Amino acid sequence: MHSAGLEDVLKTIDQRQHQSVTLLKEFVAIPSVSTQPEHAQDVRRCAHWVADQLRFAMLEVSVLETGGHPCVVAKNKHIAGRPTVLVYGHYDVQPPEPLEGWLTPPFEPTIGKTTAGTDALFGRGAVDDKGQVLCHIEAITAWQAHGGVPVNVTVLIEGEEEIGSANLGGFITRHREALAADVCVISDTNQFARGYPAITTGLRGLVYQEITVKGPNRDLHSGIYGGAVTNPANALAKLIASLHDDKGRVNLPGFYDDVVEPSEVEKLAWQKLPFSEQAFNLEIDIPTAAGGEAGYSILERTWARPTCDVNGLANGYQGIGAKTVIGAEASAKISFRLVADQNPEKIRDSFQKAMQERCPPGVTLTFADHGVAPAYLVPQDHWGVAAARKAIQTGFGKPATLIGSGGSIPIAATIKSELGIDSIFVGFGLPDDAVHSPNEKFDLDCLAAGARTAAALYAELAKK
Ligand code: BES
Ligand code: MN
Ligand code: MN
Repeated sequence: MHSAGLEDVLKTIDQRQHQSVTLLKEFVAIPSVSTQPEHAQDVRRCAHWVADQLRFAMLEVSVLETGGHPCVVAKNKHIAGRPTVLVYGHYDVQPPEPLEGWLTPPFEPTIGKTTAGTDALFGRGAVDDKGQVLCHIEAITAWQAHGGVPVNVTVLIEGEEEIGSANLGGFITRHREALAADVCVISDTNQFARGYPAITTGLRGLVYQEITVKGPNRDLHSGIYGGAVTNPANALAKLIASLHDDKGRVNLPGFYDDVVEPSEVEKLAWQKLPFSEQAFNLEIDIPTAAGGEAGYSILERTWARPTCDVNGLANGYQGIGAKTVIGAEASAKISFRLVADQNPEKIRDSFQKAMQERCPPGVTLTFADHGVAPAYLVPQDHWGVAAARKAIQTGFGKPATLIGSGGSIPIAATIKSELGIDSIFVGFGLPDDAVHSPNEKFDLDCLAAGARTAAALYAELAKK
């Protein structure tokens, strides 16, 4: 009865396009940077903004405490016998820095042209994940105006995804019954390319460590002490260099032990995707994509191989000009992207142990933990994937491509272990959206097609 209403719902979504863009501007204008304590009140305000939108859609909404930033939980009237869909997303965003890189201010959302000539809204969080959350809000709002969402829907929008969702795991455990569902839908990933909307069937995991090398008790004159003391920065550089061999493989004991190779079918499908290495290089202005392991394609290296990358380095004098100094300490933020079935804790322990063993005399090491998450693989024969394929065809007018992704969504594994359900990743972003970079954007076409796809997806999932 309900999916007969999909045509009307899609019409409503199309007619609301202008309002959708206005809403996205409001949403992006809130600087909900979860990692920066000075934005804690903005983060909270953003939760309430999301709650308000879902309340306008006549869901029952609560803003709930997690111990960190709050999350928003909203439900329609759940009717026994219908499938229940958990819709997860996040309203927090990455820091906008470096600010010099932005052509328009990050929290003054602006409509402009993309390099591809399309129209987009530029601003921090436009695609990650505010625009994509809004697709679901719009879909729900439209369904509610036409007799109601055709499934039991529980919307969970959190404020700590960009800092590893450390508090949400416990929250989910504590609210297991309230969050019980048959499947989880997440729109926080990419399409393969313009014209190639996609379902992401694999996400990488993450181990994020900060290593600090401590030497003398104060910064030293590099002439008076140079040659006598172990320079913490030199030691750190050596330790970092030891993390890869000359084939681009990660040099830690046991690192590859549990790695699962993608199936031959998958590899073959990836080879057939219209991927251009030249276009990839051009978009980010690099002469060659020579990082990572020899013998694997770019898609394999980013979707199915584990990595180790420095994400930040600090030592000595960082100001303008020269200062002759040996810094008392040096530190690096280092992340490992993991694939199935690597164990994050095992990798973290192996890293710390190897660094201690390789540490030169004269300095000491300490570690700070910035979170772990395992990789996530979606069973490709899941009924939710079939539903998503149909929804994408309806929403975009194009068939769905199955892709992997190099990114991570830490909570998916917890949703699986605590609620016993799989997540279906139906993302509406584009590879040139500049996620986490200056000039992040979300194409207005993607906003429209994403809302249509979300609406169609609820109708498809209702058929289970
Ligand atoms: N939405 C991204 C992940 C993503 C982006 C997946 C594009 C696929 C395509 C998510 O918000 C994100 O940035 N995750 C972090 C997790 C980390 C902070 C624990 C990541 O992958 O770095
Ligand atoms: Mn995201
Ligand atoms: Mn992100």
